[in-house]
Amino acid sequence: MSQTKDPTLEITNSKSRRGGFSRRGFIQGAGVTGAVVPALTTEQAQAQTAGPKPIGPGPVNITLSVNGKSVMAVAEPRETLLDVLRNHLNMTGAKRVCDRGSCGACTVIMDGKAVYACSILAIDARGSQITTIEGFAMEGGKPHPLVESFANHDAQQCGYCTPGFVVAAKDFIDHHPAPTVEQVKDGLGGNLCRCGTYMGIRQAVVEASRKMRPAVPAAKGGANA
Ligand code: FES
Ligand code: FES
Repeated sequence: MSQTKDPTLEITNSKSRRGGFSRRGFIQGAGVTGAVVPALTTEQAQAQTAGPKPIGPGPVNITLSVNGKSVMAVAEPRETLLDVLRNHLNMTGAKRVCDRGSCGACTVIMDGKAVYACSILAIDARGSQITTIEGFAMEGGKPHPLVESFANHDAQQCGYCTPGFVVAAKDFIDHHPAPTVEQVKDGLGGNLCRCGTYMGIRQAVVEASRKMRPAVPAAKGGANA
């Protein structure tokens, strides 16, 4: 009767014979290696297994700096900055329209940069300086120049996009104090208006930028002095 050869055995045996790699050799090698590694202290072992402390998924305290004030919300770590502003902090100026970073209705300024609040987790905004429309729309009992100019130029219809445009415009003027209409068009390209008030918005931003520019002190004496 013919016997069927076990090909696995054959390979193992041939490797062992040639002094090549074998399972037994591997286990022996591992044993030797293990013997020379010094044992970890309890603290070191705990440090290796501890890892980062998980946050959530339930509500946690989230402290934010909004419009120069420190405010605290109890919110889930999955909540966006927009939802925390609107639903927990009662700041409803930033609007939720697309909720996916494409319309700009939720624009706020974070650390000197206009951002979509619907696309940032509130928990990731901790430690940043956040400015919303509520923080500057009225200054000293008077409307901000941007608010005034939007009204002057009928730069809103339904008004739903307007707070996002005003915030984006403030950030734009902060970085471009004397823009042209064309520059405003490019600079506010991240905000959409479904009512199509773009022409009024651009004129309003140019006008507001003039009002917001610090007055240049008049030169002493005349040109021939
Ligand atoms: S609601 Fe945030 S970009 Fe549209
Ligand atoms: S005024 Fe209606 S969406 Fe812009």
